[in-house]
Amino acid sequence: MKAVRSYVRFIESIPDYLKSIQKEIILLVDENVDHIYSDFWKDYPKIIIPSGESSKSFEFIQKVINKLLKMNAHREIHLIGIGGGVTTDITGFVASIYKRGVAFSFLPTTLLSMCDAALGGKNGINSGNIKNCIGTINQPKFVAIFPDFLDSLSTLEFQNGLGEVIKHAILSSQNDVDFLLNNAEQIKNKDSEIICKLIEKSVHFKMNIVEKDVNETDERRLLNFGHTLGHAIESSSHLSHGESVAIGIWHDTILALKNKYCTQEVVDIIKNLFETFDFDLTINIDFEILEEKILHDKKRYNEEIYYIFPFQIGDCRIIKIEYSKLIEQLKDIIHG
Ligand SMILES: NC(=O)c1ccc[n+]([C@@H]2O[C@H](COP(=O)([O-])OP(=O)(O)OC[C@H]3O[C@@H](n4cnc5c(N)ncnc54)[C@H](O)[C@@H]3O)[C@@H](O)[C@H]2O)c1
Repeated sequence: MKAVRSYVRFIESIPDYLKSIQKEIILLVDENVDHIYSDFWKDYPKIIIPSGESSKSFEFIQKVINKLLKMNAHREIHLIGIGGGVTTDITGFVASIYKRGVAFSFLPTTLLSMCDAALGGKNGINSGNIKNCIGTINQPKFVAIFPDFLDSLSTLEFQNGLGEVIKHAILSSQNDVDFLLNNAEQIKNKDSEIICKLIEKSVHFKMNIVEKDVNETDERRLLNFGHTLGHAIESSSHLSHGESVAIGIWHDTILALKNKYCTQEVVDIIKNLFETFDFDLTINIDFEILEEKILHDKKRYNEEIYYIFPFQIGDCRIIKIEYSKLIEQLKDIIHG
């Protein structure tokens, strides 16, 4: 699987890029992205995706499908999602079910989607307020990354992406953690050379894991580090995905220390990393609310759950633990 075909630095090359696809295409574009950049794709039919998590619903998917039908979109159509993780998830999901499956590709426009959401073929939507509990695993034909999109991304959304970037670095190696620490100021200032390297590292790390375990039966589970608690926080608060995952990772690290899986040194490195990038790691949500969400975690199988703990930087492990024990320990460290 070679989903990530190209890094194209200059956003001006998007029209040539789209032309090079040589297929009939329909764009699914995030509304805010379209406001800023629509000149680059003015010649193509498009469906606008309203910004926000509420678009990842069956109701909205139905609307998109109705629009595709009205546009007479046939089975040879190529859908291209241009936007953040919401748009890429919706595009991948719709493409997977429309006419039993059509081709799709992504031009991710947020840091989070460039480094994570657009990669690996998971296309999820929400049901009620349970995150990503419906979806497909189906790979895009290509993911073309234009880092220049980040120029218009808000500081808050940039921070959101850093949550997943930091997760990849902790899972990957001390080298990748040092890269983030040594270049923290350039990263915060969106220095283009450093940002390209950062994206490259994250993409390389994630795709390496996905290529070994596309269907998440083994190693890919590592990418869920911080996500059980993270998803519960995200769906119970106004916090972004990346901010919520950062809080999840931090509390799972404390859990690892408590269970003697890691040393205080590992805890200190992870704390320093999040502090360097200005993450607030406190939880102000009743545990009962989080517990209700954790119950629906996709990694839970009856009385057990696959949970990811850091043993060292670059050595996180998947441990099957008793669900009730996890709940007890989480409750203890969050409100203890
Ligand atoms: N499929 C996966 O593997 C995977 C992995 C991680 C996260 N996700 C999903 O991704 C979603 C979050 O994605 P996200 O963080 O990219 O958020 P998003 O798609 O909601 O985008 C965030 C905001 O930024 C705006 N925006 C996007 N690009 C912009 C740009 N270049 N300039 C200005 N504004 C821009 C959007 O309009 C939106 O308001 C969640 O639904 C999460 O579940 C999926």
